[in-house]
Amino acid sequence: MQYIPPSRLRGRDLEPLLASRGRDLAWINENDFDSHSPANVARNCYGETMNKVPFHYRTARPSLPQLRTWIDTLVADALERQTERDAPIASIVNGPSLLLLGVTGVGKTHEAYGAMRELSLSGVYGQWEVTTAADLYAALRPRHGVDSEAEFRRYRNARLLLVDDLGAERKPTEFTEEINFRLINWRYENHLPTLMTSNVEPKDLAARLGDRVISRLAEMCQRIPMKGNDRRRSAA
Ligand SMILES: Nc1ncnc2c1ncn2[C@@H]1O[C@H](COP(=O)(O)OP(=O)(O)OP(=O)(O)O)[C@@H](O)[C@H]1O
Ligand SMILES: [Mg+2]
Repeated sequence: MQYIPPSRLRGRDLEPLLASRGRDLAWINENDFDSHSPANVARNCYGETMNKVPFHYRTARPSLPQLRTWIDTLVADALERQTERDAPIASIVNGPSLLLLGVTGVGKTHEAYGAMRELSLSGVYGQWEVTTAADLYAALRPRHGVDSEAEFRRYRNARLLLVDDLGAERKPTEFTEEINFRLINWRYENHLPTLMTSNVEPKDLAARLGDRVISRLAEMCQRIPMKGNDRRRSAA
């Protein structure tokens, strides 16, 4: 792990985010010259994670208790694995998944990026790949000069994966069904932590994603229904 000297990290609602992990700015900015220290892991991880968080969600913080429990589980598992293997740093490898469900604008994406940000400050290393389902399908469409399978494996094998807006396409096609199945099946079989959001109504999920995907999701992830109105309209 690269040693990153403290750069007086602040702003972007960092303090309350650190506080929710029982840490503070002094902790993350401590200059201990130890590349394996949890604070250095957090500096690395926060920087990498923020590169994947869109500008709009740069100050997002999770508000749902289920997300905090999920983060706690991932962190505890990583610490246990570190102790078992006597590893220099704790890294997230396996764990449960989550599916955030709710209407347009209720705050699913905000919660997801908030969870990414909070997890990055835990002192445990976790590397994210992030995509919307629509962008994933577009990136994987077979086309000249692009190795779509290599691209697929990047998402399939990601240590932590956010798939935003699952099932948002108007009409599922054979292609989107196959991608959904291959992706979810791999992550299910390997217990790879996956954060998903969808604004499809729970009763329509099976029709959108197919029974085999739904069956795997039922076992691998907790469904979190989010209640509320479209926050964008309320803000406007
Ligand atoms: N807890 C929150 N605190 C402050 N702002 C929030 C919160 N949750 C959501 N928002 C804001 O509300 C708006 C809608 O949130 P978001 O983009 O997460 O919705 P969504 O459920 O992902 O919608 P869609 O289904 O259209 O993708 C955004 O501007 C977001 O920043
Ligand atoms: Mg969204």
